[in-house]
Amino acid sequence: MSDGKSILVFGATGQQGGSVAAALLKAGWKVRALVRDVAASKSVALAEAGVDVVRGDFDDAASIRAAMQGVDGVFSVQPSSPGGTVSDEDEVRFGIAVADVAAEAGVGHLVYSSGGAVRETPSGLGHFDSKARIEAHIRTLPIAATIIRPVAFMEILVMPGFGLDQGQFNFFVQPDQAIQLLAVEDIGKYVAAIFADREKFAGETIEIASDAVTGSELAAVFSEVAGRAITYARFGDDVLAANPFLSKLTALVDAGRLAGSADFDALREMNPEMRSLREWLAGTGRQAFLQALGRAGNWAYNA
Ligand SMILES: NC(=O)c1ccc[n+]([C@@H]2O[C@H](COP(=O)([O-])OP(=O)(O)OC[C@H]3O[C@@H](n4cnc5c(N)ncnc54)[C@H](OP(=O)(O)O)[C@@H]3O)[C@@H](O)[C@H]2O)c1
Repeated sequence: MSDGKSILVFGATGQQGGSVAAALLKAGWKVRALVRDVAASKSVALAEAGVDVVRGDFDDAASIRAAMQGVDGVFSVQPSSPGGTVSDEDEVRFGIAVADVAAEAGVGHLVYSSGGAVRETPSGLGHFDSKARIEAHIRTLPIAATIIRPVAFMEILVMPGFGLDQGQFNFFVQPDQAIQLLAVEDIGKYVAAIFADREKFAGETIEIASDAVTGSELAAVFSEVAGRAITYARFGDDVLAANPFLSKLTALVDAGRLAGSADFDALREMNPEMRSLREWLAGTGRQAFLQALGRAGNWAYNA
């Protein structure tokens, strides 16, 4: 499997890259991380965990090239426009730069993290269509590549503004409609399985998820964990009318495109430990969930 080989992880101070770096270390890979600030606390924590931390930037191709020297694989993820720090064009430029340099450097396996709603046909949302452009570019390159499409993170559920503090949770789905969700900790486990078997996964595009729940099931599990009643309703028409971004996302859920279509049987083979929502709430999500129960705030979903 890893045989002491090394993987360069982008975004290792963030959610996806952090999950990937941790899982690869656990699986015995050597891990290098390109970070913008080697002295930042998350970078220092990575170094303390055994990661080879190097300085660089998506906008500095020379730093990407230097970081790729001698690595066997690359995990690529970029920030996107709803986060407010980059444009859709920046995201495309960054994603293509990483892929181009990986191909030039003769890297053995590129894993690119795209998004669950990404398809060849336009979605109407820039930060999905940007990923479609990066995917299309990667498919033209002479490199063994695997594209993962993560569905909505469970971590979104505990963001302010969804009503947990008021005992009334609002989300994208109808009460009887299911949506697939992904625990960020599972991303690394899927990616570790992909790097462990290049023959099997090169050329594949794989939607990844951890669980599927309906709105009513969200209410039931939340009530159980909170120890008090939490009801569920889909975002009201007034809320959707006032927020075009939310409205477009909800329309994509209704169209099935953002509700998730991951194949759980295949995913279970890659990662038998995939987290159910209940398990996530009992584990890594517990503290954030309990905090969200007592935290008012405005809707700030920005992924
Ligand atoms: N939320 C969801 O449900 C969901 C689902 C599927 C896909 N996505 C996608 O996930 C992506 C974001 O991933 P994430 O949540 O893991 O990100 P994140 O936690 O916000 O972290 C962003 C990472 O990118 C690094 N970074 C930012 N600008 C950089 C630059 N110029 N050069 C080098 N590194 C840079 C940051 O490093 P620093 O330490 O330097 O800041 C950080 O490690 C977005 O494309 C989003 O659309 C989200």
